[in-house]
Amino acid sequence: MTATDDRTQDPAADPRVEGLRHAPGGYDPTSVDYVADPHEVLRQMREDGGVHVYQAHQGPRVVLTRWADVEALLRSKDVFKDVRKLAPDDPRRVGVLPDENPMASAAPSILGLDAPEHDRLRRLVNRAFTPRAVEALTPRIEEIADRLLDEVAGQDEIDFMEALAIPLPVIVISEMLGVDPEDRAQFKQWSLTMVNSDLRPDDHDRIRRGRAARQAMRAYFDRVVAQRREAPGEDLISALVLAEEEGDRLTHEETLTMLGLLLNAGNLTTTDLLGNGLLALLSHPGQVEALRERPELMANAVEEMLRYTPPVLGTGRTTAHPQEVAGCPVGQHVSVSGSVISANRDPEVVEDPDRFDITRDEIRYLSFGGGIHFCLGANLARNEARLTLERLFHRYSDIRLAVDPAQAEWRGGGAFRGLERLPLRVTTRTGG
Ligand code: HEM
Repeated sequence: MTATDDRTQDPAADPRVEGLRHAPGGYDPTSVDYVADPHEVLRQMREDGGVHVYQAHQGPRVVLTRWADVEALLRSKDVFKDVRKLAPDDPRRVGVLPDENPMASAAPSILGLDAPEHDRLRRLVNRAFTPRAVEALTPRIEEIADRLLDEVAGQDEIDFMEALAIPLPVIVISEMLGVDPEDRAQFKQWSLTMVNSDLRPDDHDRIRRGRAARQAMRAYFDRVVAQRREAPGEDLISALVLAEEEGDRLTHEETLTMLGLLLNAGNLTTTDLLGNGLLALLSHPGQVEALRERPELMANAVEEMLRYTPPVLGTGRTTAHPQEVAGCPVGQHVSVSGSVISANRDPEVVEDPDRFDITRDEIRYLSFGGGIHFCLGANLARNEARLTLERLFHRYSDIRLAVDPAQAEWRGGGAFRGLERLPLRVTTRTGG
């Protein structure tokens, strides 16, 4: 397979995706315009067969937009995630600047592994990440949210992202891991530098900064893991070090990779759930009123936020052999993306999908993925979002957007969809 970095090339000219329809011009997951308003083009794509091909940085990519096809992709055993199964020179395997990548030959995290290797590591981390451990965090998450709200007390305009959505998830995961509170700012910085650092293959400095951050974080965890082996505590790092399943344990390298994943996977995603979700809610004043009248709706409101405005746009797999993908013939080693944000609005599965309605019954979405990679932190993320928004609504008797929703500032593209800022006008509850 040839390395191609030419986005003007005709993707359907590749024999492995011959005959597939081109994605419309408006479909460009790397552009801010698409991220800001993806729904119209995705609707067109669903109605136009739901299977398209476009030219990504590293070759042709098939994109699926209907629920049934995205769900089938997530559960398929005929596709893989582990890039080590690709040819040694495949750009999707070696990345940009391969000679400068110290991690190029390292084993991927569970997110990039296939069964059975994936399942072995997932079992071990499941043992440390129990629903009970997550539930036990409830009072602490409330305290953290209250403390962050105290820091902006007295202000009648706040940026929700800066005040709560950005700091809260990193504080929670740092506390769970059991790392020094003083190091949290450094974590968030590493995490932000790493996320999307490879989005623009031509920006070599950005790629190098991302890799340096990853190495620095690994060195940090290397020290902490060594300490916990000597003197285990009650935290998640100790639990991972001690986790054992039928005599099996994580190796030191596996532990470091897992910690890096936990720190990153649970960080920006939860930030974006909070930001996107609150923007959707406040853009629908009738729904805010319903929530004020029935605060117990908050858990359901978070489910609707996850469906309507998911933090992760989609997720990819690679075909293991020639096969039919969503009824279309596709060759071997083709990248296929499942558009989760589109699936969540498929009218075949969700009634009146463009309506934001926090009172819906049995809300269905693919925002946490599916199959063996289903999000490990789904319950933690749901809890963090619910508790933070509950504390926010408890603190303020009135919360309004300080900007027109159509003017909301979205971050640049990539796998994540989230806001730069969310300015709010707030009125503190008397005695609150
Ligand atoms: C709203 C917040 C979150 C969203 C939308 C989200 C989304 C996702 C998605 C879509 C996947 C599957 C990716 C794929 O199939 O390729 C995933 C996997 C994962 N998530 Fe989350 N996530 C969130 C929060 C968290 C949190 C808080 C943590 C942990 C602290 C976490 C840890 C993980 C891990 C470890 C995996 C990999 C699981 C595996 O491969 O077996 N996530 N997440």
